[in-house]
Amino acid sequence: MKKLTTLVLSLLLIAGIAFGGGTKEAPTTATGGPGEVEVLHWWTSGGEAAAVAVLKQLLEDEGHTWIDFAVAGGGGDAAMTVLKSRALAGNPPAAAQVKGPEIQLWGGVLANLNDVAKANDWDNILPKVVADIMKFEGNYVAVPVNVHRINWMWVNPDVFKQAGATIPTTWDELDAAAKKIQAAGLIPIAWGGQPWQEATVFEIIVAGVGGTDFYTQTMIDADVSALKSPTMVKVFETLRMLLSYTDPGAPNRDWNLATSMVIKGEAAMQFMGDWALGEFVAAGKVPDQDFIAMTAPQTEDQFIFNIDSFIMFDVEDPANAGAQQAMARLILEPEFQEAFNVPKGSIPVRLGMSNEPYAAPQRLAMKNFVTSAKTGDLVPSMAHGMAVMPDIRGAILDVVTNFCNSNLSAEDAASQLASAVDVVK
Ligand code: GAL
Repeated sequence: MKKLTTLVLSLLLIAGIAFGGGTKEAPTTATGGPGEVEVLHWWTSGGEAAAVAVLKQLLEDEGHTWIDFAVAGGGGDAAMTVLKSRALAGNPPAAAQVKGPEIQLWGGVLANLNDVAKANDWDNILPKVVADIMKFEGNYVAVPVNVHRINWMWVNPDVFKQAGATIPTTWDELDAAAKKIQAAGLIPIAWGGQPWQEATVFEIIVAGVGGTDFYTQTMIDADVSALKSPTMVKVFETLRMLLSYTDPGAPNRDWNLATSMVIKGEAAMQFMGDWALGEFVAAGKVPDQDFIAMTAPQTEDQFIFNIDSFIMFDVEDPANAGAQQAMARLILEPEFQEAFNVPKGSIPVRLGMSNEPYAAPQRLAMKNFVTSAKTGDLVPSMAHGMAVMPDIRGAILDVVTNFCNSNLSAEDAASQLASAVDVVK
């Protein structure tokens, strides 16, 4: 982990991005006239684009210019590659979607958002655990947008009906239901064969098969002996079972195309975070009528969370710094929190917001966010960069993807997982 931190920071230094050991003081004249802000993000699907358009509009309503820098590719891995190369060229965008512990890797070269945070009471309107992720050496350097839940199963009830199958609540029931659906000539599981999507399903199974403690040991603590334990072997066996119910078009399929297979009744279910809800809603579908959103098998109590956030790079021009700070402020205002999160499928990160305008799955998520925090079942997503540093995440994704695209045995996969993590730890 230290290795990577040093690497990124020294690359930035070489690239000539000023770096003073701590965060920069926000320019004092940042309140000037209209400015522009270039925003790197990866929100390009139907629901995502509808949500990000809200931020653009609010910023433009204040007279600022939004320069859109969208890098397609769910999960953001492509966007992160582009961000690194822009930063290396000494020309990072003013704002970029960066999440979780990775914020610490950039911390030293980011703009200090303490003034905006103080003026808008971020310490009190955010859960402390979220505020802590947004800070580097005690200073705000990122602004959180939302909270997504990962452990969802998106179901087309008609497909189950056609096959005479029962919607599962355990992995064994899923096996039985999927067999029937397959026998009826339908696709049981809409699968996107991309590393981050495979990792998303993998961590859901880790939580479901192993429970919260096992999830914590493996996906957060990266404990090598837990990673090669018999429970992990069982996780890979379950993943293999799921893979046997996917279709030949799965390799490299985008997540929203997989969601659309469920929407259209071509497939029975998909395992994906609740940005999938945004796709159902954008397609005019109604929960509990056209589709069902359920917690994934055996994860009813758990809430695997994924928080989107933006970091801000220091900019020279005071007007542009003003635009940047306006963006940071707007993101946590109640108006944005509601207008963005409703179409995004996520829930507000700001405390004390009404659940009124949200769809049923989001209301359930809002309730479970609180209950899971109380029972200790609120856990960060490994697949979405909330739980471990990027090098450990990368090691896990490599093994999971290799398993999904080969005939590797569950035993060998568990032992490879432990060794791969051990090397980078
Ligand atoms: C996640 C991100 C979500 C959603 C998803 C698919 O990593 O947190 O907001 O965009 O990727 O693109």
